[in-house]
Amino acid sequence: MTTKQIAFASGSAHKIKEMRLLLEPLGFQILSPKDLSIPFAPEETESSFVGNALIKSRELYRLTGLPAFADDSGICVDALGGRPGVFSARYGGEGLNDKDRAIRLLGELGENPDRKANYTCVIAYSSPKEEVSFDGQVFGEITKDYDSVGQYGFGYDPIFYYPPFGKRFSEVPEEEKNKVSHRAAAMKKFLSWLPSHTS
Ligand code: IMP
Repeated sequence: MTTKQIAFASGSAHKIKEMRLLLEPLGFQILSPKDLSIPFAPEETESSFVGNALIKSRELYRLTGLPAFADDSGICVDALGGRPGVFSARYGGEGLNDKDRAIRLLGELGENPDRKANYTCVIAYSSPKEEVSFDGQVFGEITKDYDSVGQYGFGYDPIFYYPPFGKRFSEVPEEEKNKVSHRAAAMKKFLSWLPSHTS
């Protein structure tokens, strides 16, 4: 099997490792901006996940000439009209950490009985031949309080309750979450498409 190179627009060691585990068995070598010694920090100026994912995949393709992919994700709360959405990582402004942001979201939602929320992920791919995107979602509810006990996950997981598991994502080991997550759902679509669209 010949190895095909593909660039992945992320600086997160965790995500890069996850993508390598998924793509290496299919014959792909994943190269991050760091592997390629490329400074990479495009501004995510779009108001949709797909828009921002495409900014990143397009820019990395432009810089490297390699087929490139990127992801963009966040949490969308129904009662807040889908916010924080693409602003999930920046919600509440600068100087906040993950826990501060989750607690702020609890405060904004208050006692609202509509707790429905979803995590959404979009994977975008840019190559000389085409540009395409794949999305994935996982549906749950925002809890009433912050879980300081669960030891898993990150971001909004301590306040994201997933009914099929009867647990918050912060209580679910990574292997379990990876079977149902928004990122897994988008990646599943991408992985079944990619091999027949690369030469
Ligand atoms: P990014 O796509 O890595 O930039 O992530 C955007 C933001 O969405 C993260 O910083 C988190 O706040 C939130 N987020 C995305 N996916 C998850 C998840 O699986 N768990 C918790 N928070 C997440």
